Amino acid sequence: MKWFIVALVVCATAPMVFGATGNVEWCYHLPECNYTKWPEIAPQHCSGNRQSPINIVSANATGDSSLWVFTFYGFDSTAAMTKIENTGKTVKVTLAGGVGVEGGGLSERYDSLQFHLHWGNGSSVPGSEHTVDGKRYPMELHIVNLKSSHHGNTTAGIADSTGLAALGFFIDVMSGNATGQPEAWRKLTSYLHNITLKGQSVAISSAITLNQLLSGVDRTKYYRYLGSLTTPTCNEAVVWTVFKEPLKVSKDLIDLFSTTVHVDTTASSPLMIDVYRGIQPDLAVRTQSTTGSGSTFKPSYTLGIVTLILALGRN
Ligand SMILES: *[C@@H]1O[C@H](CO)[C@@H](O)[C@H](O)[C@H]1NC(C)=O
Ligand SMILES: *[C@@H]1O[C@H](CO)[C@@H](O)[C@H](O)[C@H]1NC(C)=O
Ligand SMILES: *[C@@H]1O[C@H](CO)[C@@H](O)[C@H](O)[C@H]1NC(C)=O
Ligand SMILES: *[C@@H]1O[C@H](CO)[C@@H](O)[C@H](O)[C@H]1NC(C)=O
Ligand SMILES: *[C@@H]1O[C@H](CO)[C@@H](O)[C@H](O)[C@H]1NC(C)=O
Ligand SMILES: *[C@@H]1O[C@H](CO)[C@@H](O)[C@H](O)[C@H]1NC(C)=O
Ligand SMILES: [Zn+2]
Repeated sequence: MKWFIVALVVCATAPMVFGATGNVEWCYHLPECNYTKWPEIAPQHCSGNRQSPINIVSANATGDSSLWVFTFYGFDSTAAMTKIENTGKTVKVTLAGGVGVEGGGLSERYDSLQFHLHWGNGSSVPGSEHTVDGKRYPMELHIVNLKSSHHGNTTAGIADSTGLAALGFFIDVMSGNATGQPEAWRKLTSYLHNITLKGQSVAISSAITLNQLLSGVDRTKYYRYLGSLTTPTCNEAVVWTVFKEPLKVSKDLIDLFSTTVHVDTTASSPLMIDVYRGIQPDLAVRTQSTTGSGSTFKPSYTLGIVTLILALGRN
């Protein structure tokens, strides 16, 4: 009898964790598939040692003179954003061909494929993925870019240790009592009502540009490290750029994310809340060199020794 009950439980849980295609089904909101289980659900990469997100310790970031300015292509185009979609895990915006980024210490040009967001539960329960000196921001936007030489082949991209370049932007609450600001974010979030259920998507017809969404952030100031996708299968293929300054969006618009979109195809399914992965072990982080101080050698040397000791300690 006991055996029978165990078998039943296994059968009832299995479809939830493994999809019909044999693909791993992961989640944020259930104990059986949240990020604490990802190393079991997708062990090949999620249990690796170059995992994202991380807490960035600003005082430990070493100077790197190659972290120069970026060049952004198509970020001024009102045709860059084509579609907005509820994936059941996030809100994703598909980007048009020709949108891309180069420079910023990247080895070559990368094509921008999409951006999506991570959030907590409204502006008061923060849900950025990266944290800086322990601070978690209300939201985080990720622009996902694929190395141009892979010609759109994301399978090849995730098999390359620098195949993807992710641009991370923190989103903070705009000060004061503003509502519906900035205008570009008001227009973007107005589509959330059209994609309340998983699988729904709509074309973006408003004339908004990526530069408008990203305005206010100095894009020459950022952290750089080599990490992974923050969702299964957690491939260690990502050159991370995390911009230091946050975007500012009014509280009412931030709150729309955790109050509008659902994780499944029915309105009775849970709202998408706390859609971020927990912090992974520290990785070496670089940033712009402090000009003229000439003091960047010692910290990076010290970090090198620490890293070596840690690496030896693992074996
Ligand atoms: C994730 O699941 C574990 C159990 O597997 C549970 O202890 C934890 O509270 C869950 N965390 C979140 C954020 O849901
Ligand atoms: C960061 O610096 C602190 C001390 O300031 C040190 O304890 C810690 O190990 C460092 N972390 C890394 C990843 O170097
Ligand atoms: C999210 O916040 C709302 C409003 O404060 C609250 O009712 C709800 O229980 C929270 N949900 C979770 C999963 O924490
Ligand atoms: C994409 O890349 C993978 C891995 O390199 C390769 O096996 C596959 O044939 C490529 N697909 C196309 C359509 O070129
Ligand atoms: C915001 O609104 C509150 C209450 O309406 C008011 O007391 C406060 O002065 C306002 N703050 C700003 C910066 O306008
Ligand atoms: C989105 O929903 C609004 C309000 O329900 C509707 O007026 C509008 O046509 C919808 N937009 C699209 C692109 O479906
Ligand atoms: Zn992301």
